[in-house]
Amino acid sequence: MNFVLSVLLIAILKDKYDYWLPSRTGCQTLAANIWSDKTTAQNEPINLTNANAPIKNAKNLNSTITNVAAFDTKLNHLLVDTITGRVFVGGVNRLYQLSPDLELSETVKTGPQNDSVECSILDCPLNAVRSPTDNYNKVLLIDRATSRLIACGSLFQGTCTVRNLQNVSIIEHEVPDAVVANDANSSTVAFIAPGPPQHPVTNVMYVGVTYTNNSPYRSEIPAVASRSLEKTKMFQIASSAVTTGTRTFINSYARETYFVNYVYGFSSERFSYFLTTQLKHSHHSSPKEYITKLVRICQEDSNYYSYTEIPVECISDAQGGTKFNLVQAGFLGKPSSDLAQSLGISIQDDVLFAVFSKGEGNTPTNNSALCIYSLKSIRRKFMQNIKSCFNGSGMRGLDFISPSMPCVLTSGEQALLGE
Ligand SMILES: *[C@@H]1O[C@H](CO)[C@@H](O)[C@H](O)[C@H]1NC(C)=O
Ligand SMILES: *[C@@H]1O[C@H](CO)[C@@H](O)[C@H](O)[C@H]1NC(C)=O
Ligand SMILES: *[C@@H]1O[C@H](CO)[C@@H](O)[C@H](O)[C@H]1NC(C)=O
Ligand SMILES: *[C@@H]1O[C@H](CO)[C@@H](O)[C@H](O)[C@H]1NC(C)=O
Ligand SMILES: *[C@@H]1O[C@H](CO)[C@@H](O)[C@H](O)[C@H]1NC(C)=O
Ligand SMILES: *[C@@H]1O[C@H](CO)[C@@H](O)[C@H](O)[C@H]1NC(C)=O
Ligand SMILES: *[C@@H]1O[C@H](CO)[C@@H](O)[C@H](O)[C@H]1NC(C)=O
Repeated sequence: MNFVLSVLLIAILKDKYDYWLPSRTGCQTLAANIWSDKTTAQNEPINLTNANAPIKNAKNLNSTITNVAAFDTKLNHLLVDTITGRVFVGGVNRLYQLSPDLELSETVKTGPQNDSVECSILDCPLNAVRSPTDNYNKVLLIDRATSRLIACGSLFQGTCTVRNLQNVSIIEHEVPDAVVANDANSSTVAFIAPGPPQHPVTNVMYVGVTYTNNSPYRSEIPAVASRSLEKTKMFQIASSAVTTGTRTFINSYARETYFVNYVYGFSSERFSYFLTTQLKHSHHSSPKEYITKLVRICQEDSNYYSYTEIPVECISDAQGGTKFNLVQAGFLGKPSSDLAQSLGISIQDDVLFAVFSKGEGNTPTNNSALCIYSLKSIRRKFMQNIKSCFNGSGMRGLDFISPSMPCVLTSGEQALLGE
């Protein structure tokens, strides 16, 4: 990714209303697939600091370089085990394990292997030809509960392996289930957080995957899902019934044209979030306009009824209202005391740092900006949209998931009971 940090600003989501949170705070029934177009999050950029100012207390990093690791492939993910200091790197056809001093200790060859997108994990149609195919690392995660490494690659419809955290060469489970994107460039984002079936005791893997449209099997892979980390049902949908479960699909009419690009995922205060870029309108319109949206699911919800989206904007007043519409990267962190003060939050509150680019279509340009959002204002914005829909205003939206319907006046009690 080539982009230059040219602007530094803070954007906040404007909030004028109070929470509409009924006293019983069951979050799963408050929303039902709502995205209200009318309530686009407003921004109020504040100048945090002069982008050209020298960084205070900068260390001379030269004196701390102990080793230089060189890799002979394109890299996709890097992960540091904060307990042991080991470093894991996932790349094309390779997984690497390095010591805390960056000495290469293990190299695993994951590809190329004979594969075809026309084949399922277990079966191949007669006319399909398997040929040597590169394996792109799509997910690299540590499951703390079991002290295992989870690594997923694009081969065999996007399967995952569970590996030993002391030695990545040792495979603990190889799971024949399609979980991640099965091509070179389609997005996949995954993280571990509490979820059903035994929320908040069980941890699950939340996964957001772009629809790759390259084989009939892809229609079975949800756009967003929570998957089990239990040994006996590893990577299966964590909780499912006949028509519902911890999963959401883009519907069959929209999925070939309405691509959702998953950029970052995180958990904060009983909700799981995905930062995405998407088309602004799901119906055919030209020119196509792309925006950034935040997807949210309540972690207690075993049916994903709480799936909700809000648009997120990053606008520079200093550059005459330039819109940085495409999020490129995100990070959930805590604010410094200065930042906390300017956002009106405490230093314990979560803050989302996101780098955006000004897009040409859905292609990022060199023009970029950093925007910072307090999770408190994000939660308030979601609540405000949900409240306004249950007050009968606007449409539910999200017609690429299920047909959009007008918002219907619903009392707080009815909303709690899921209408
Ligand atoms: C931010 O900085 C720009 C130029 O440096 C200035 O024009 C603008 O008024 C500042 N905005 C605020 C909110 O201080
Ligand atoms: C770090 O090392 C590089 C190359 O050796 C040198 O050009 C640079 O000036 C050094 N930076 C500092 C801050 O010492
Ligand atoms: C891939 O298949 C070809 C032809 O069937 C075979 O010659 C080759 O050894 C296979 N390669 C691998 C890596 O299995
Ligand atoms: C890691 O496991 C592999 C495969 O079992 C083995 O060949 C290798 O020696 C192990 N590495 C270490 C450092 O024990
Ligand atoms: C994936 O993206 C890279 C870099 O943008 C590009 O060079 C490559 O052709 C793409 N590969 C596919 C299969 O689209
Ligand atoms: C973007 O940055 C790259 C690398 O610095 C440069 O080669 C390219 O010309 C720039 N593109 C534009 C449109 O400025
Ligand atoms: C709900 O709708 C009514 C009637 O349109 C309006 O008067 C009221 O202000 C709305 N309440 C909220 C909180 O939006």
